[in-house]
Amino acid sequence: MTHAHITSWFLALILFFIAISLHKSGKAKGFKIMQMVLRVVYLLILATGLILLFGYGMLSTDLSLQYILKAAIGIWIIGLFEMILSKLSKNQPTKVLWIQFIIAFLLALYLGFKLPLGF
Ligand code: HEM
Repeated sequence: MTHAHITSWFLALILFFIAISLHKSGKAKGFKIMQMVLRVVYLLILATGLILLFGYGMLSTDLSLQYILKAAIGIWIIGLFEMILSKLSKNQPTKVLWIQFIIAFLLALYLGFKLPLGF
């Protein structure tokens, strides 16, 4: 399940950067489509994340708080994907969101790989 989880957030990351480059080259329609495809991929991230969260009984171990934190950070990143693209499409500033994005991403990688399921 961790493989499916990593595959889905990695796919989201790639589509996210494709969406940004489409926006930069003024391809509004392609951007919109990419935004919609991304929303489907969010569901995959969420589903695989929730299975990892609830499917292995990790919430009844000493690590439960860290698991809840990992899930919250994951949801935060999905929110940031969505917010960054929506601000871009309205030509509003995204700097503060990018700072959060980098912090949240590093935290998710750290906690995700530190916790015992998967790699
Ligand atoms: C874009 C967002 C996300 C990123 C970048 C991310 C990243 C990661 C990474 C790198 C791992 C480690 C995989 C491994 O050890 O093989 C992981 C595991 C996990 N993720 Fe996510 N994740 C995201 C979203 C979510 C969401 C939305 C949830 C829950 C609702 C979630 C819950 C979990 C859980 C429970 C684990 C298992 C931790 C463990 O290895 O023991 N993640 N995630």
